[in-house]
Amino acid sequence: MRTLSLAFALAVLVAVAPAQNSTTTQSLKEAFKSDFLIGAALNWRQFSEKDERALPIIKSEFNSISPENQLKWQLIHPQPDKYDFANGDRYVAFGEKYGMVVIGHTLVWHRQTPAWVFDDGKGNPVDRETLLKRLRDHIYTVVGRYKGKIKGWDVVNEALNEDGTMRQSQWLKIIGEDYLAKAFQFAHEADPQAELYYNDYALENEPKRNGAVRLIQKLKAQGVPINAIGLQGHNNLRWPSVKQQEDTIKAFAKLGIKINITELDVDVLPHVDEDKGPATKLTDELNPFASGLPALTADEQAKKFAELFAVYLKYRDVIDRVTFWGVTDGDTWLNNWPVRGRTNYPLLFDREGKQKAAYSAIINLATTSKN
Ligand code: GLA
Repeated sequence: MRTLSLAFALAVLVAVAPAQNSTTTQSLKEAFKSDFLIGAALNWRQFSEKDERALPIIKSEFNSISPENQLKWQLIHPQPDKYDFANGDRYVAFGEKYGMVVIGHTLVWHRQTPAWVFDDGKGNPVDRETLLKRLRDHIYTVVGRYKGKIKGWDVVNEALNEDGTMRQSQWLKIIGEDYLAKAFQFAHEADPQAELYYNDYALENEPKRNGAVRLIQKLKAQGVPINAIGLQGHNNLRWPSVKQQEDTIKAFAKLGIKINITELDVDVLPHVDEDKGPATKLTDELNPFASGLPALTADEQAKKFAELFAVYLKYRDVIDRVTFWGVTDGDTWLNNWPVRGRTNYPLLFDREGKQKAAYSAIINLATTSKN
């Protein structure tokens, strides 16, 4: 915030002023159509067209979709010889039906990957060659199936620790550091036209960001086909600062890759450490807005969203897409993570599907920035 320029501060102030009529006539995808794609992560009920509340919002507001879970290894490839494409196919068909840019998420991750992938069948870790073969088969099969239909893939998700070192995942332990290069290479072979991304969270924090910069420099030096970095954007009311956001975008733009904001939300609840989360007892203190979001907090959130979007707009030349991780507050993963059973409000639409203050702030920002 220290370096916030006057023009920037003014733009944010205008954006959070009371909603104008423009909010009812514009959609997000229209407002930002000359800047970047506007995406949403969809759950099964949404892409199966069973969520009547979310469906009109998805159709009118977004021009790109990501699958919240459906293309993860656990669901699409649950057993060694069993792929389950029914829901992946449905997700892709939904995007095609409505003319949306369809994103694939995710091929290689340390979570939501079945234990058999790393196991030799006798309870020991598999060897490098076997795991590489499994990885190649998985990527060829999944990316190959949606060749020409999925525009870009999060190839590797969350390979870094908070201090910027490599996460000691099974992938790293068994294959070694070149698992990333291999995964990108396999994905490129399976669909040479697909864009390929590295996706991670909290890259706005300098040590982790520096680790990601080193990683991408290394991959690029080896000729690995990587098109963009995904900044997940799981934010809160106080983090990241404008400066952190801006420095992060600049650092990756310098490497000659594009930037996608891939999992955007702004958490409004008290912070609970991820590691302690699931064991934490649900208390009123940790769940202060169970009966509704106070207007003051809604405004604070609107201001945070407007600040972030002002940065995205400033760097629209290098940002291809901004995707929200969910459609309405009722759907968000943050109602159950890291503490189960809380009532969170991190998105632009409330539980009834109505536009929140944050929605108006973002639309106003887009409108004023173009006048
Ligand atoms: C990470 C993953 C997403 C999703 C979110 C939480 O950010 O990349 O697939 O699981 O966590 O829902």
